[in-house]
Amino acid sequence: MGGWDAFVEECTSCTRCNLHMGRKNVVIGRGNINSPPVLFVGEGPGEQEDIEGEAFVGRAGKLLDLVLEALQIQPEDYYIANVVKCRPPNNRVPAKDEIETCMPWLRYQVKTIKPSIIVCLGSVAAKALIDPDAMITKIRGDWVEKSSKFVIMPTYHPAAILRDVRKREDFYLDIKKVRDRLNLIKGKS
Ligand code: URA
Ligand code: SF4
Repeated sequence: MGGWDAFVEECTSCTRCNLHMGRKNVVIGRGNINSPPVLFVGEGPGEQEDIEGEAFVGRAGKLLDLVLEALQIQPEDYYIANVVKCRPPNNRVPAKDEIETCMPWLRYQVKTIKPSIIVCLGSVAAKALIDPDAMITKIRGDWVEKSSKFVIMPTYHPAAILRDVRKREDFYLDIKKVRDRLNLIKGKS
């Protein structure tokens, strides 16, 4: 064994931060792990994700799936992970120290998945991967190039779209930019 399987095993028994105390399941992510072009990064598991041990299976995840399907982004083209792998109590925003403690797991996922495009879903992911002072409403929709390995698209969290329909069009347009870049990478345009 080794590699991804060892990572899953270690991460599943992680107790590095206090979030391990309230979790039912560690949520590692879902999708294609064999170098898909796109990695989506959310915030952390919600109630349904904690129960099922699977990422983005609740209402926000269903909305994300609908948008990906509408834009014909194929399941083999992406993996979806979160900044923290255990559900914060009552879905509170994960604390800075919890994020810092959990980041090595996400870094391992980025290093292994080797995405060309990383999509930050919401403020927590944007702050963790782009800039601690990032305001998602200001930076969303524009490509960020911080590394020679991948480009980053910051956008809203799908849960924000459920709360505020006025954000829906921007979210769709941002994911459409991801789709267009993905098609370029795949040699379709
Ligand atoms: N919200 C997230 O940020 N991640 C999930 O997995 C589910 C909801
Ligand atoms: Fe470990 Fe991350 Fe869960 Fe904290 S949130 S216990 S660091 S896997």
